[in-house]
Parts: sequence; C-alpha cells; structure tokens
Amino acid sequence: MKNDLQKRENWTTRLGFILAAAGSAVGLGNIWRFPYVTGTNGGAAFLFIYLIAIILIGYPLMVTEMTLGRKTQRNPVGAFKALAPNTPWWLVGGLGVLTGFVILSYYSVVAGWSLAYIFKALGGFVPEMAFGEVFTDHITGVGVPIFWHAVFMALTIGVISAGVVKGIQRAVKTLMPILFILLVVLIIRSLTLDGASEGLRFYLSPDFSEITAQTFMDAIAQAFFTLSLGMGAIITYGSYLSEDANIGDNAAYVVGLDTLIAVMAGLAMFPALFALTDVSPDAGPGLTFITLPAVFAEMPLGSFFGFIFFVLLSIAALTSAISLLEVVVAWAVDEKDIERKKASIIVGIIIFIVGIPPVLGYSAWSDFSFLGFDVLDTYDWIANSIFLPLGGLLTAVFAGYVWKARNLADEANKVGGVINIGEWYGFLVKIVVPIAIAVVMVVTIAQTLM
Ligand code: PFF
Repeated sequence: MKNDLQKRENWTTRLGFILAAAGSAVGLGNIWRFPYVTGTNGGAAFLFIYLIAIILIGYPLMVTEMTLGRKTQRNPVGAFKALAPNTPWWLVGGLGVLTGFVILSYYSVVAGWSLAYIFKALGGFVPEMAFGEVFTDHITGVGVPIFWHAVFMALTIGVISAGVVKGIQRAVKTLMPILFILLVVLIIRSLTLDGASEGLRFYLSPDFSEITAQTFMDAIAQAFFTLSLGMGAIITYGSYLSEDANIGDNAAYVVGLDTLIAVMAGLAMFPALFALTDVSPDAGPGLTFITLPAVFAEMPLGSFFGFIFFVLLSIAALTSAISLLEVVVAWAVDEKDIERKKASIIVGIIIFIVGIPPVLGYSAWSDFSFLGFDVLDTYDWIANSIFLPLGGLLTAVFAGYVWKARNLADEANKVGGVINIGEWYGFLVKIVVPIAIAVVMVVTIAQTLM
C-alpha cells in the first residue's frame, strides 16, 4: 500500500454504492445463467433451494466482504494484509485478483456475443431462421467475435479509467434504471402472451421430487457467481465506502436487488418459452442465444423485443465487467502504485488477449479439451467451480476465526440500521458457510473428474 489514503475516492451517495454493487451482482449470471440453470434443474424446486442458498450463504458473505472492504479501505490483497500483517492470508486476496482476471477474459467474450446479437435482432428475427446454426456460425468465426470482445473490453476500460465516481457510479446510475425498465417491458410482453400460464406453473409451483444433490450444488454455485462473491469484488467496492455507511442494510439491498432481477428474468423467459415454442426449458447455455431468438421470431414485434433483450443483457454484463476490472485495477493502483488510467488500459489489454483463446476454442483450437470442456468452459469451470468457492470459503474462515466474527459484527454494526449483525452471523460464517462450500466443492470436483 503506497498510496496516500486521503486520495482514495468514496461513493458520493448511498444509492451510488448500492447501484454499483447491485450492478456488479446483476449480470450474465442473472439473465443468461440463472434461467437456464433453473430450466435444467426442474424450475420452481430449484428456485426454492436457490433462495435458501442466497439467504444462508450469500447474505453473510456479502456482509463479510463489504465489511472487510470498508474497514481496511483497500483492494483485496491490501485488505488481508492490513488485518493480518505478515501472514500468508494476503494470498486469498491475490487469488481474488487472479479470479477477476480469468472471469473477465471470457465474460467479455460472451458479452461480445450479446453485443453482436443486438445487431442480429435489428436485422430481424424470423421463424424460418435456423437459430442453432446462426449461433454456431457466429461463435465459430474468428474476426467478428474478437471484434465484439474488443469493443466490450474497450467500453469496460473506458468506465474504469474514469474512476469510481465519474466512471463506475455515473455509469450505473444511468444503466441500472434502464435495465430495470427494459426487463419490465419484456415481462409484460411475456405474461400477456396466450398460453403464458403453463410457463408460470413450471417456474413458480415447485415439485419437490425434482430435488437432487445436483440441485443444491447448482444453487450454491449460482449464488456465488450471481452475487459476485468469493473474489473480492465486493471487498473492492466496499473499500470506497465511507465510515458512515451501514453494512447490514446495504448488503440486504444488494442481495435483494440481485435476486429480484434474477426472478424477473425467469418471469420474462419461461412464459414466452412455453407459450411460443415446444422447446423444452432445459436447453442449457444455448437458451439465451438459440432458444430465445426463436421465441422472439414467433412474437408480434419480436425483433424489437429481441433488440431490447440483447441491449438489456449487454448493459447487465457491462456493469458486472467493470467490477471485475476494478478488482485488478484497484490492486495495481494500491499495491503497485500505477496510475489508474494507465493501469486500466494495460490490465484491460492483457485481459483482452487472455480472452482470445476462448474465442479460438470454437474454431482454430476446437481440438482443445480439458476434462471434455472447450477453452471457454475450462476458464469458466476453473473460476466458478474452484476459485470462487475456494475464495469464499477462505474469506469466511478468515472472518470467522482469524479476524473473528464478533469483531466483524461490531465493525458492521458501527452505524446502526434496520438489520443488526447478531450472533446468527457467527454461526453462519463459522459453520454453515464453510461446511456447505466445502461439501459442494468436493462433490463438484469429484463428479467432474469421474
Ligand atoms: N455477478 C456477475 C453476474 O451475475 O453476471 C458475475 C460476476 C461479477 C462474478 C463480478 C464475480 C464478480 F466479481
């Protein structure tokens, strides 16, 4: 830590912080991943388990990361160094920085697909199109996906180089309300289609016989990714909070908004899917780029709504991507004393380059296979199944046993709010969270290797 603390920026309003953290949380995870994971796990039963995971694991970790950030006013590496000097705990922060790096490199590739689909929608979605082929043609290209990946990284770098208040806060204050309105438009469209009720039933009335071990694993993994936990993004955003910020309530707003948007994304998707196609809801990752355009093609004014949808998806991705880049840039600024603009550009370009193999994995490098995964899925698997849970587990252990749950709760409660971080927090962060994550990690890794 070489920078003068006086120079550290703070969010200028409480809403600015909440929207930034919610913007980080709401992303491809909510609008692309959540519906297809829900679809492949039987719908409402998954939603139920997911909500439990959010409350028992997501919320306490959100409180933990926000408090670590606000208390230390540092990037993830600096935060652990400040609270446990001369110990190896800073490596947990280091893992977070590395994870941000890896996730952003392929996240930007998927976000680039979304940007490209904005223009495909403008060109018109018609029922005669073979959407599976359209998607395959797109991702097996080289120049075009790399171009959109570059455009998306350039936008991300642009926001981050402008700083916390002028860049991040300004961007989320404009983009988050737009995202919300677009989603409401899509929900109204979806719910007013003839035959929407069947999709609603699939999504909202649970059949508990559908629940398996896999349901729990997918629910916990989804909770981490969607809430941006386990890699210090929330530590970093929390580090720009001033002393007078309340933690319990702010964390509840962020978790609540993220959950609301995910649930809303399902409402936009399933009724339309059931009403307009005979495609099954368990289509997997292709749901967004293959099934949905087919749904739009069947809908009156479908190309227009398709356009709206991909604008929405791109906005959601951008407000998350900036938080991923910010983790790495905050580290470069605090720990390596590199000026913010320069750090944003250099780090951004390196991440862009690291993101090229995932693009080539569908063309020149399609022979690549790691445990049966292509390059993009390999990055995704390493980040989501190993790095995020490991980071979350170690952060919980650090907070519960090293810094001590009591100290963290006192720090979080410094400024009173509606929610008081009480004894329950210690129980969750010391016992429930680590055990749940450890079990999920072991089972996930074992299943993948078997
Ligand atoms: N929460 C984001 C999403 O749901 O798309 C993804 C993400 C962003 C994960 C930032 C981790 C992170 F630090």
